[in-house]
This record gives sequence, structure tokens and C-alpha cells, in this order.
Amino acid sequence: ATVTAQPEETKEISDLLMGIFFEDINYSADGGLYAELIQNRDFEYTPSDREGDKNWNSTHSWSLKGEKATFAIETSDPVHPNNSHYAVLNVDRPGAALTNTGFDGIALKAGEKYHLSLFGRIPEGSKTNKILVRLVDADGTVQGETTVTVSSRSWKTYQAVLTAKASADTHLELQPQSAGTVELDMISLFPQNTFKGRKNGLRADLAQTLADMHPRFVRFPGGCVAHGDGLKNIYQWKNTIGPLEARKSARNLWGYHQSMGLGYYEYFQFCEDIGAEPLPVLAAGVPCQNSACHGDLRGGQQGGIPMSEMDAYIQDILDLIEWANGDAKKTKWGKIRAESGHPKPFNLKYIGIGNEDLITDIFEERFTMIFNAIKEKYPEIIVVGTVGPFNEGTDYVEGWKLADKLGIPMVDEHYYQSPGWFLHNQDFYDKYDRSKKTKVYLGEYATHIPGRKANMETALTEALYLTALERNGDVVHMTSYAPLLAKERRTQWNPDLIYFNNREVKPTTGYYVQKLYGQHAGDHYIPSQISLDNQDSRVKLRVGSSIVRDSKTGDVIVKLVNMLPVSIETEVQLPGIDGIQSSATRTVLAGAPETTPLPVTDTIEAGANFKQQLPAYSFTVIRLKTQ
Ligand code: AHR
Repeated sequence: ATVTAQPEETKEISDLLMGIFFEDINYSADGGLYAELIQNRDFEYTPSDREGDKNWNSTHSWSLKGEKATFAIETSDPVHPNNSHYAVLNVDRPGAALTNTGFDGIALKAGEKYHLSLFGRIPEGSKTNKILVRLVDADGTVQGETTVTVSSRSWKTYQAVLTAKASADTHLELQPQSAGTVELDMISLFPQNTFKGRKNGLRADLAQTLADMHPRFVRFPGGCVAHGDGLKNIYQWKNTIGPLEARKSARNLWGYHQSMGLGYYEYFQFCEDIGAEPLPVLAAGVPCQNSACHGDLRGGQQGGIPMSEMDAYIQDILDLIEWANGDAKKTKWGKIRAESGHPKPFNLKYIGIGNEDLITDIFEERFTMIFNAIKEKYPEIIVVGTVGPFNEGTDYVEGWKLADKLGIPMVDEHYYQSPGWFLHNQDFYDKYDRSKKTKVYLGEYATHIPGRKANMETALTEALYLTALERNGDVVHMTSYAPLLAKERRTQWNPDLIYFNNREVKPTTGYYVQKLYGQHAGDHYIPSQISLDNQDSRVKLRVGSSIVRDSKTGDVIVKLVNMLPVSIETEVQLPGIDGIQSSATRTVLAGAPETTPLPVTDTIEAGANFKQQLPAYSFTVIRLKTQ
């Protein structure tokens, strides 16, 4: 084959093409990216988190070990009205302990430090109580130990540090050393080593795995989580900022609980830490109205936010923009952001309104109100509307009609499809009407083979499709694979990009494709022509190339995909591109369709004209420096 670049036809493309979409599905947040190790630290789990499961209540993950003691839940005088439940531990004789099993255990790393904090108080009639805090493994061996002495009559924070003796799977034990009653809430344990050392931070290994993808933006918090499965379940960003004890936790429609410890502040901080644009998505005044949400609809909650409440809802959205961008001294919400620890604005540029919604009159009316309000007050903010899955009913068509009517700057498309679909639709955006104002955010996509995890076949179809997305990077401004994270044994969706458990991160082959595209993104597309010896259309569909240039470094990046069962001798010709150096970096991901290989990087002799063998079933990225 020959791949010949046509630099005279170079066009600018989006430099935000590769991003990530984080949704709290598959235990991605609590028990996942959020580094908190104590499950139900605030005793706020409720039976409605997971209907039909008797364990889902304030005592979930907690129990009492030992005798001559009681453990009860009280609500009469809480730390904060948003956090109304707390534990009352009474011991007649020291020995009993309140225990927490964490999220499938508390995995310690030998030698690492762990920060314990809790709210405690001693009610009238009881005395100061020293509490022995232990991390104990399944054999009963104490792998970390400290004490806190609770003495205050009113709620007060107590802190201590434990050092892990060994890498072990443990549970937490809180053992009062004196007889009497102690009241406890917000019992929290964080590894000292969080991502970038942030307080209330993210799990370092998982966050680093995401950062390694070089995402140019992060969409959050959903997906279905953003609009919820009923009016009461719409994600309210204001409940997720400020002191942890004052945040309002919520039922997660994926069948568990959101502590909101990983909230808007943490999402924005993470974006800043990895140099990505934040893309918050808010409900368009309507919750999920149909099965596109994959959640269970709660009776009688269809329809939108009542018109009488829409002004307040719109104000919440405008407040978010002020919170993110407002002056720390001159604006109310800018001041609130500063008080949380971030005086400088977060520099929000994009805001998503709606997710895969039915495009009904109810939706249109509310979306239009929100869109116009943002446009009027913050014309510089780019609103990303929603058209959802192109293959589900008429909403995609209606969504696009609305986008054209309102001149929405960008819309969010979703598609989960078979490898065959991705192969045969590489021209999806080639056909896009370039006279349209609206750009595309492909906010959710993945190649699906029912019942199977991602493998080389799915990864290669995504790699091939991404060559088409780069080619159409003038209209497709952003893309993100979905879902991003999935905790083993806690997944609600398949496939996902990165699996993990309490100790390990297990990226899929598809992750390496995303990472290679993210690390080797460009802002200029250099068209190229592939000429193949075999002209069969089925063969042509399975071979793709994309050449981009990164104007910051001047590097030229050649991506080559071969989905054929045979290798291809290829000549890459880069005429008319000045200063190409002879040495280049090459990364190859190759393996049979059902395998899950790892990429291999080396240095090769390349230059403006070079030969490259494309192994059977492979994705090759060659990065060339220019002088
Ligand atoms: O990515 C999982 C779900 O798929 C998202 O929550 C939703 O937007 C889509 O239906």
C-alpha cells in the first residue's frame, strides 16, 4: 500500500477532539476514583438507594463487633441538616468496636500513611473517651493503629494518621476505651497519597491512568446521572460543593448511593490538574423520560420541572457559571468558590444542557429558556445541546431540528454500535452539511459485541473510526468513549474502557487506542490517500490512515490501522512537509481480534518517505519531528 500526504489541503481541526466522559456508573466515584476508603461514612445510605435490598440503610457497611455495647442511628441533632444521620455508640464495658468494611474491603499499601477524620461528641452524662482506631485484616492482624480522644460536647472534627504495616485487605474498627456513649459522624479514611496530593482527593493510580490519556476535556457527572430518573433525582451541583458534612448525598440511578464527596469542586480541580477543559452537563429542566436512560422510572415523575420553578432552576445554572468564572471578591458565587480554596476562576468555557432526552415540547420549552438565558448573560459560554442516539426514534432528527432553529453551537451525539456499524459508517461525518453552524460532540460511543468485553476487534474498529473523526475534526469538536471506569464485580454496563479493583487498574485495549490518540493529537489535519493493491471494498474498509500536525511542537503524526488478517507492506510519503527528521517514534498495538495486547514503542528511521509494515490486526502511530 502507499499512503501519500496532500499537505496543500491541510485544514484546521479541533484541538479538543480527545476527551473523557466521567459518570458515576459501575462504582466509578465512591469506591472508585474518589479516594475515600470508608463506605457510608456519613450514615446517609437510605432504602431508596436500592429498592428491595434490606441492607441499604443508614447502617450499610457498619456493624458492631463484641458484646456489652449498642450501636444506633440518631437524627435529632446532626452535624448539618443535609447530613441528618449519625451513629450513637454506647459501651458498658470496653472491648466492643464499631466496624466498617469499606468498599469491598479497605486495601492498604505497606508503609503508606492514611488520614482518619471524624466528627465526634460526648453527650451529657458520658465522659471523654479515647477511641482506638484499627485497620484489621481477615486474620485479625492489626495492620494500622492510632487513637483519637473525643471530648467535646458539641460536634467537633478529630483527626489522626495511621501507617500501614503491610499491604493488606482490612476493615476499620473504632473501639472506645471507656464505658459510656460517644456520637460519631463523617468517619473518613483517605490515603495520604491522593492524585496531586489533593485533600479530599482522587485515587492516585486511577486518576493518573486518566491523566495519561491527555484528555483535552472532561465531561461530568453524566450521562443519566446528570438528569436523573425523576425530578427529585436531577443532579443538583450546589449540593456537591462546600464542606463535606454539608453536602447532600443522593440516590444514584445506577442502583447505589452518591456521597457527593466527589462533587463539582473536585471535578473542576481535577480538570485543572490535568489541563483539561471542564464540561459540566446539567439537566435541560427534564429528567430522563424514557428507556434510553437504562434506569428504572419512578412512578409519576415524568415531565419537566414545573414552569413556576424554572426561573430558580435557570438561576442555578447561571450561578454555576458565576461560581466557576466569577471574581472571588466581586461576585457571590465567585466568593463561595474562593472560600472552598480556589480564588482563581476555573475558566469554564463549555456547558452541556441535557442528555439523550426525548425531544418533546416539554423539553424544547425548557431547553430554549435555559439556552437563551445563558446566551444573554454569558454569550461567551459554548452551550452543548443534546441529540442523543441517532438510531433511537425521532429524537435525533428532532434534536437536530432544534439545534438548527436555535443555532446551538454544539450538540452531543451518542452511539453504541457493533464493529460492523463502525466499519461501514466511517463516512458518517464526511456527509455532514458543512454549512451548518452546529458542531458535533460525540459524547458517548463504543464498539459493542454483546456479552463480551472490549478486545482488539472493538479497539481496532474504534481506531479506524477515529481516523474518520480526525478527518472530520473541523465539525466533530470533541469525542469521548463511554463508560470510562468500571469496578470489577460492581459493573452495570459492558464494555467499559478501564476496569479496576481496590488495588489494580486494568485498562482495556480500547484504552490504549484512546490514549494513543490523546497523546498524539493534532490541530491540523493533513489529508492523505491510501492506494491498496487489493481494490475489494471489504478490504478498503479495513485499512485507514490519518495524518495530523501538532502546531505547538511542529510534530507530524501518522496513524495507520490495518484490520486485515494479513500484514501490509506500506510506503508512507510525506511530500511538501518541510524539515521532517529521519528518526521517529513508533508505537504499535497488534494482536488477533479476540486478544488484548499492549502497545510497544520504539524508535525508527523514517523521514519524508519511509516504509512501514503494518502487522495483521494492528494500529500504528508514528510521530515525526520537524525542524
Ligand atoms: O454511558 C452509559 C449511559 O449511556 C449514559 O448514562 C447515558 O447517557 C447513555 O444512555
